[in-house]
Amino acid sequence: MVHQPAWKALRAEFPTLAHWTYLDVARKTVAPRCQERALQEYTRDVYENAGADAWAAGNVAATRATLAQLLGAKPSEIAFTKNTTEGLNIAAHAFDLRPGDNIVLTNMEHPANVWVWKHWEAKGVEIRYAQHRNSRLPLSAFEEQIDERTRVVSTAYVTYGNGYRVNVPELGRLCRERGIRLGQHRDQPGSGQPPGQRAGPAHQLGVAQRSGPVQHRGGVRSGHRDRPNPLHHTLAHVRAVPAGGEPSDLGAFG
Ligand SMILES: Cc1ncc(COP(=O)(O)O)c(C=O)c1O
Repeated sequence: MVHQPAWKALRAEFPTLAHWTYLDVARKTVAPRCQERALQEYTRDVYENAGADAWAAGNVAATRATLAQLLGAKPSEIAFTKNTTEGLNIAAHAFDLRPGDNIVLTNMEHPANVWVWKHWEAKGVEIRYAQHRNSRLPLSAFEEQIDERTRVVSTAYVTYGNGYRVNVPELGRLCRERGIRLGQHRDQPGSGQPPGQRAGPAHQLGVAQRSGPVQHRGGVRSGHRDRPNPLHHTLAHVRAVPAGGEPSDLGAFG
């Protein structure tokens, strides 16, 4: 028998759905009730127990382990940052690029994935943009920008604003063949992979839920950069790239 999700209960978790048929998840996420409950519980603990549970280091470790399982990563690869932009920014500074090298982005990116790379231009690194075709980014759009001086490709997995997916497995293969680092950010709901499955061929990865005062993903509470979460909880994570620039688990991708 095919297992049917409990649709009624799931819909009840999203009060927005009582009023709207909401299709804009590629841009803005609707918040579930469990987020509200988690925040209330967190705040209650802060007020009543001086944060004994809310700020416990053990909870951070447990959250890291849960996220690692969800994303198919190792706990040691998960770093908490305040939002996607901060995660991307750390990743964008982790390379040793030379004048004449180039970085390939796309002309469908959220500005966050453009500005974090811009500092390289002052160092003689060219930034190129894969050009969409009818709002889609097929592999050929990347291929035509990549050459022997391409060191990094960075793209959203789910294209900002329209929700089309980039073929990350194929792009990862292409990058691997040519020794290029691939950065991908997965900001939209539904852009993860099944629990336990490795996160694909990205060499680093920034992830967030977003666009609400506080959002919830995989048991992690998070804040939006314009409306920072006063609880200092987590939003984004980056697959760690150690100082030498070589991700610790590169072998697993190759
Ligand atoms: C695809 C994508 N990347 C990055 C960002 C920036 O996220 P944050 O506000 O968490 O820094 C967003 C936010 O809307 C986004 O949709």
